[in-house]
Amino acid sequence: MDPQPHARIADALAGCGWLVLDDFLPDAHCRELRTCAEQAALVPARVGSGVHALHQPSLRGDRTAWIEDSSVISGERALRAVLEVLRAVLNENLYAGLEDVECHYAHYPPGARYGRHLDRFRDDDRRAVSCVIYLNRDWSEAHGGHLRLYSEADELLAQVLPHAGRAVFFLSDRFPHEVMPATRDRYSIAVWFLRRAITGRPIV
Ligand code: OGA
Ligand code: MN
Repeated sequence: MDPQPHARIADALAGCGWLVLDDFLPDAHCRELRTCAEQAALVPARVGSGVHALHQPSLRGDRTAWIEDSSVISGERALRAVLEVLRAVLNENLYAGLEDVECHYAHYPPGARYGRHLDRFRDDDRRAVSCVIYLNRDWSEAHGGHLRLYSEADELLAQVLPHAGRAVFFLSDRFPHEVMPATRDRYSIAVWFLRRAITGRPIV
């Protein structure tokens, strides 16, 4: 990827705080990751974190699988490399102190949704920047599955279709968002850039 998109992402995050970017990943890479996602050991996602996490399909119906740092799968290594470059650019441009990246595949079966939420947990404030990358070719309006992004004042900012290669970036603590049900299987990769803990993790 040329350095231009990185600068756009950094500018947007420093300005309005969010951005939708097409062709963040090339087609071939998306296809590779889509295959990985379909073959991943996906498990029903939970709401919340740590000991408070609950399985509540009416609020959240996706199934997820973490992409390990140590993965030897070429598409996943290439993804990690892209995200590491972006992390470095964000740190240079925003002095953001982002020290880690975590990401998982998500599969929403037809009809599944993820109700309105913030990506920042109540008891863990390390998630600073959220990014969602989509892996769905030939997707149209009629298939649904929009990501709806809201402002802190509750205005609808964007309704994003999950087209392959498209990515959405936003500050994790500022933008409530929800995933609308789709008529097809919907695949994405959710990414979080983590900063050092400020409040610290609860001791359990
Ligand atoms: C998430 C999320 C959005 C999407 O996983 O936290 O909000 O469009 N995903 O898949
Ligand atoms: Mn989210």
